[in-house]
Amino acid sequence: MEKYRKKLVSLIKKQIDGDIDLAVPPDSTFGDYALACFPFAKQLKKDPVGIANDLKEKIKAPSFVEKIETKGPYLNFFLDKSVLAKEIIDSVLKEKEKYGQQSLGSEKVMIEFSQANTHKAFHIGHVRGTSLGESLARILSFVGKDVLRVNYQGDTGMHVAKWIWCYQKYHAKEKPKKDEAWIASIYVDAIKRLAENEELQKEVDEINRLLDSGEDKKLLSLWKETRQDSLDAFENIYQELNTSFDKYFFESKVEKRGKEISLELVKKKIAEISEGATIIDMKAHNLGVWVLLRSDGTVLYSAKDVALAEQKFEKYKVDTSIYVVGKEQEHHFSQLFKTLELMKFKQAKKCRYVPVSLVKLPWGKMSSRTGDNILFSTFKEELVDYAAEEIKKRGEIDEKELKRRSDAIAIASLKYSMLRQDPNKVIVFDKTEAMRFEGETGPYLLYSYARARSILRKAGKFSHSISAPSEKEVALIKTLDAFSERVSKAASDLDPSAIANYSFRLAQQFNEFYGACKVIGSEEQDFRLTLVEAFCIVLKNSLHLLGIETIEKM
Ligand code: ARG
Repeated sequence: MEKYRKKLVSLIKKQIDGDIDLAVPPDSTFGDYALACFPFAKQLKKDPVGIANDLKEKIKAPSFVEKIETKGPYLNFFLDKSVLAKEIIDSVLKEKEKYGQQSLGSEKVMIEFSQANTHKAFHIGHVRGTSLGESLARILSFVGKDVLRVNYQGDTGMHVAKWIWCYQKYHAKEKPKKDEAWIASIYVDAIKRLAENEELQKEVDEINRLLDSGEDKKLLSLWKETRQDSLDAFENIYQELNTSFDKYFFESKVEKRGKEISLELVKKKIAEISEGATIIDMKAHNLGVWVLLRSDGTVLYSAKDVALAEQKFEKYKVDTSIYVVGKEQEHHFSQLFKTLELMKFKQAKKCRYVPVSLVKLPWGKMSSRTGDNILFSTFKEELVDYAAEEIKKRGEIDEKELKRRSDAIAIASLKYSMLRQDPNKVIVFDKTEAMRFEGETGPYLLYSYARARSILRKAGKFSHSISAPSEKEVALIKTLDAFSERVSKAASDLDPSAIANYSFRLAQQFNEFYGACKVIGSEEQDFRLTLVEAFCIVLKNSLHLLGIETIEKM
């Protein structure tokens, strides 16, 4: 439709000089596009109503325009809906999974997301960041970027020392498992014991020192083994979440370079030594003080991030570097980006931080022993069970298929409820709300897709055809057309919610159309089936960009 708008603008420009703001009126009785004539009154020395009437006389309606009308000072353009239908539906059917693809400039974009730490839980907050990163990676590829998806896991440091200490001291009889829940439970136990007796921290500190120096080979091999168990457990989760990574960075791998870089920064007078610690004074930039190395020389999270960024720029040659990370780290990233700028990395200005806000649970509604830090696995199980109950209500189904569908519904509900919101806002995840088969939910979208697919299955073979569309059909067709604009908005805002909200609107319009128009057995059967098919393609594309896979039956 944008193409028609542009053509109309150029026709109007032949009559009037200046900016032509051809808007979409809120109500379609005022046409598909309307031009307000007030802005030209001064320049033409004429009243707006007169200008509108003049323009109506002078502009020759092109073939895609059904009629041009005036309403007071407005000039309203009505497009020929059959032309519109043909144009839009044809391109959907032709481009299929590529429909909506565009080029917003080619460049190498690295997107870092998920970043769960080994030896700890993968909780629902991680699900939000992982879903967001996955979706952004898909969206950015869809608009022509060369995307590298990367992870950066915290596999060293105090949390690891606590875990190893607790395991050795209290759980050594248990064989380490590649099981997220078990791994997390050891960590939770460590925290509990340390809270009960502060003296114990000394033992943890000693383990931390030994791990850092690498002198205790047995300890090192226990670290290696359990680190891998954690990573393997995460890998299963990534599969369930339809996520994958091109590259895994680890904190342990940038420690050494982090130390070196800190010393280099002192030489370059970007950093300084203060009370033994290596710091960057950023007060002049209103960013406080950033500590790189402790006074005992051990390396901090900050310095490791500088080393990581250097690798991203120099080894991977990225143009734009995106970090999808918890909102509580906002300040850290402002300090990091400023440091990269001081270091004169040309990409420093192209670092983008996407804050991921918290996911909370309505108190008392979910079972969780660790408060808001509920495990992904526990949580998912609850959703899958819930979905399975819903599916079984609808009729007999074999176990394997039941599992497939309930898994898909659970993940769709989880992802959709997170992606439909601004990443910057706290989410209160209400299971019953997110799992509803009606309303703005993942299950509703999957259901709408499956419903459309079942119409097509029932219909069997048909030939594509286009006829003059009715009002509901026009609304649906126009929404199909709006997809690519939503994709570019999501890409430039780095926020998939534009696409999430769009998916819902599209599904709603489909359901309205289906409620109003008989498809199978109607005179317009072929046209309507063609439209149903186009709808399926666009909804599927849109959900795909959210990282949500469709199912054929609910
Ligand atoms: N693993 C870190 C954490 O759990 C997040 C890493 C974010 N990425 C980064 N480049 N600092 O807090």
